[in-house]
Amino acid sequence: MSSPPEIRVYPSPEDLAGSAALRIAEILSQAIHASGFCTMLLSGGSTPRAVYERLAQTASGQGHDWSKVHLFWGDERCVPPDHPDSNYDMARRALLSQVPIPDVNVYRVDAEHGPEQAASHYEADVRAFFSRRAVDGAEMGVFDLVLLGLGEDGHTASLFPRSPALLERQRWFAGVEHDRPPPPLVGRVTATLALINAARQVIFLVVGKNKAEIVRQVLTGDSNPPLPAQLVQPDHGYTLWLLDASAALSLPSDQT
Ligand code: 6PG
Repeated sequence: MSSPPEIRVYPSPEDLAGSAALRIAEILSQAIHASGFCTMLLSGGSTPRAVYERLAQTASGQGHDWSKVHLFWGDERCVPPDHPDSNYDMARRALLSQVPIPDVNVYRVDAEHGPEQAASHYEADVRAFFSRRAVDGAEMGVFDLVLLGLGEDGHTASLFPRSPALLERQRWFAGVEHDRPPPPLVGRVTATLALINAARQVIFLVVGKNKAEIVRQVLTGDSNPPLPAQLVQPDHGYTLWLLDASAALSLPSDQT
């Protein structure tokens, strides 16, 4: 049974980014201490950029051992890795280029080959990683940390409302055709709820007044069918929502 999410509200996006970076660095360090390595599924979109930039500063300042950090993507757009819409390119600029993480520890989605083929290839790569790490105690598909954003339609990763990918219970990644807003209108590769809900910890990062209504619906509403972000309920893990004051504007006071 999933425990109710914890919600933390910060005065500004800058305050959120600083606290999120500290929390992420702490989670990664705890995982490294426990098993000698850690795994994180990165979120795309624009919100995490500031968090990644602060994480690079925070973790480096703490002498973080990046050789023990393994990074993956919770979703990717089917564009080249140097395209402005690439989630990999955003993370490369904000984080990967700022820290001494070995290239072999960065598992990019080769999404340029189209949604379905890229999803299958990526799933094989991720399964192979966990198989190799089983000797170190890794549990298949159990990420130490999953970072997620929230779209104004309630999507998270690239799990959009009414998407067949929401029903996937076996596969860890799915290919998604995406030809209606929100942009970019390109195919996607997305982690499935089966993978996301296996995680030890999930952190949602949400800022901006434009997200206030969907935050209220997701955290207090009883949408039918449920919104994709409402289906993120880790089986044994812990969910933390980090909101700035603008994104939390419509939440009841007893939830903030
Ligand atoms: C993506 C993201 C997506 C994102 C939300 C919020 O690839 O687009 O994974 O789920 O987190 O759309 O995006 P913003 O942070 O840009 O508002």
